[in-house]
Amino acid sequence: MTAAAPAALTHEQIGVLARAVSRAPSVHNSQPWQLRVRGTEVDLLQRRAVELRRHDPFGRDRLMSCGAALTNLELAIRTLGRDCHAEFQDGDDVVATVTIGRPKAASTQDYTLFQAIARRRSHRRAFYHGRVPPGVRAALVVAGETTGVHVAAPAHLDKLAELLGFATRVLRDDRGYQRELAMWTAHTTVTGDGVPEEALSSEALPVAGLVRTDTPVPDDVVLADRLAAENLLVVCTDGDTRAEHLAAGAALQRIWLTATAKALAGSVITQPLHLTGFRARLVSEVVLPGVPQAIFRFGYPAVPAAPSPRLPLGELFRNESSGGLR
Ligand SMILES: Cc1cc2nc3c(=O)[nH]c(=O)nc-3n(C[C@H](O)[C@H](O)[C@H](O)COP(=O)(O)O)c2cc1C
Repeated sequence: MTAAAPAALTHEQIGVLARAVSRAPSVHNSQPWQLRVRGTEVDLLQRRAVELRRHDPFGRDRLMSCGAALTNLELAIRTLGRDCHAEFQDGDDVVATVTIGRPKAASTQDYTLFQAIARRRSHRRAFYHGRVPPGVRAALVVAGETTGVHVAAPAHLDKLAELLGFATRVLRDDRGYQRELAMWTAHTTVTGDGVPEEALSSEALPVAGLVRTDTPVPDDVVLADRLAAENLLVVCTDGDTRAEHLAAGAALQRIWLTATAKALAGSVITQPLHLTGFRARLVSEVVLPGVPQAIFRFGYPAVPAAPSPRLPLGELFRNESSGGLR
């Protein structure tokens, strides 16, 4: 007698997946992903129409955002009590396919991280205090480490301050870049994407809140002191392939959810990493274990950040699998 094939998901279960994916972080809150549900397989697609020519000319952040969405998708499937397996796809649109397997109880860790999805948000302000116990820091590193992905605190904060200060001045004066950024920070309440004005802040670090034309740049010594008051982790990969961009985004989200579950808050910095030559200098001057893909800053928040908007759930689906979700 052959065992019955794993059951397809119900509309209610698809709704759980959609809400989890929708709450993932994404570059400029562009939500560059879609889902296509095919029985027990779910394709994660990138919306290539989301183009950030100045901020993300090679689509690296778009793929990392899809990686973050993939982490949420897998956590949601496991929390629904199903085994699953994700495979990277090197297609133009499809970036991963998740195969849903047989019933399997979710682990406590999966459940805890799933619960953190709705509470995670970008906290770009200064932290109430930055003393994070070493055991908690270590847990964040472990959450992100996987084959080909390495997570490390940057050494040489004076060098990092110099590089970030330089990047801030370049980005602040780049009119083309600033025009694109303005489009993603001006329209959010109408469309459900983009970064709301109130979510941006440069009180802690100029680069913590997306550098704009009026972002103040402290001198390098002040900046190094501010960096020292924060906790930083850099997500690095062995190489710089599409699969590694996806994996880096998935790792970043596991770190962020682990931090959230431990009452920490944080935000991501990729903006300066897109400047020509910046990552090479970061590797050689700050000492990193691979190609840097994202910087995660974290600490204990004084006040919680507000949730940012999202597109209607119905727009998340490439086919008719939404079951009328809005
Ligand atoms: C790949 C990636 C790159 C990002 N880069 C930056 C960045 O450079 N600066 C920043 O302030 N936020 C950055 N973010 C955070 C997004 O702006 C944020 O996730 C989005 O606005 C949604 O808000 P939320 O995180 O509060 O849900 C990035 C997020 C991702 C996934």
